[in-house]
Amino acid sequence: MAINSNSPHQIVVLGTGGTIAGRASQAGDNIGYTAGEVGVAQLLELLPGGAALLAEQVAQVDSKDMGFALWQQLAQRCAHWLAQPEVQGIVITHGTDTLEETAYFLQAVLCPAKPVVLACAMRPATALVPDGPQNLLDAVAVASMPGARGVVAVCAGRIHSALDVQKVHSYQVDAFASGDAGLVGVVEEGRVRLQRVWPDYVYEQNWPLAQVECAQAAIKNIVNGTFPASGWPRVEIVLNYAGASGLLVDALVAQGVQGLVVAGTGNGTLHADLQAALLRAVAAGVAVVRATRCVFGRVLATPADVVIDSQGLAPVKARIALMLALLANSASSSIRD
Ligand code: SIN
Repeated sequence: MAINSNSPHQIVVLGTGGTIAGRASQAGDNIGYTAGEVGVAQLLELLPGGAALLAEQVAQVDSKDMGFALWQQLAQRCAHWLAQPEVQGIVITHGTDTLEETAYFLQAVLCPAKPVVLACAMRPATALVPDGPQNLLDAVAVASMPGARGVVAVCAGRIHSALDVQKVHSYQVDAFASGDAGLVGVVEEGRVRLQRVWPDYVYEQNWPLAQVECAQAAIKNIVNGTFPASGWPRVEIVLNYAGASGLLVDALVAQGVQGLVVAGTGNGTLHADLQAALLRAVAAGVAVVRATRCVFGRVLATPADVVIDSQGLAPVKARIALMLALLANSASSSIRD
């Protein structure tokens, strides 16, 4: 499929790095490369009609190093472009390793009425058979589709919602899954075949700790670049496993952690010693949320629960939701003060 360069509806491609922009010293090498080396404009030159797209290099990082400052910058650039009437959608080139976190963050803070499509690759741009160009072409097809909205990821011809996408393979080109929720759709030869609705608002479904109004205030601060003096809240993830103790939790509380997500076993179950430490953390004022370390399924609440569950969010996304909820709470106290 060639990109329709005569379209009056502009697609903006924001580059952040990743393997899709990776460069190896040998063409046959799919793993010994440096991520984030090739500029986004150069990636687009390889696509038929790609030069007609508007490219902006936001960063050039290996996404393992993704962090709050870059998330904020990316949210600001997305908000800028989404507000332009001639822009139909945004494609973001991104590394696969933390793609699901960026996708969830952007959906939570932007909840865009236009499509924001994350494109990635498992093989570097210099590979003998790179997967990036096809993924990028597919992402542009999704961003160009009338009616598309929300943040999605496109990889190996599959469209995943920001709310459900998870990297589930460390090497294969089809590295992502959407769990029980299933795909939003597929891209076949430039045509999008939808299988369910586009991602929509997240707070009411996934955000038990904050009211939507406070969330909006916090999010406005993220997109405007103004924060409460305390900055981003510190939220860490701990894991349940055979022989887990409460030592890490106690140490984190002593260090002043503000939130904890525990990746429990199975239906969010916790070793008795870890659970006792988490309850001590709650008593000390730390917000604690319980997810499951299982790739598929979610924590199903029971009347016996002593730690609230993540409403179906995987641990890394529950952490972002909790950070945003804590920011929302600090926004609401600064509104009250
Ligand atoms: C990265 O996440 O930036 C490197 C790995 C990848 O993109 O597959």
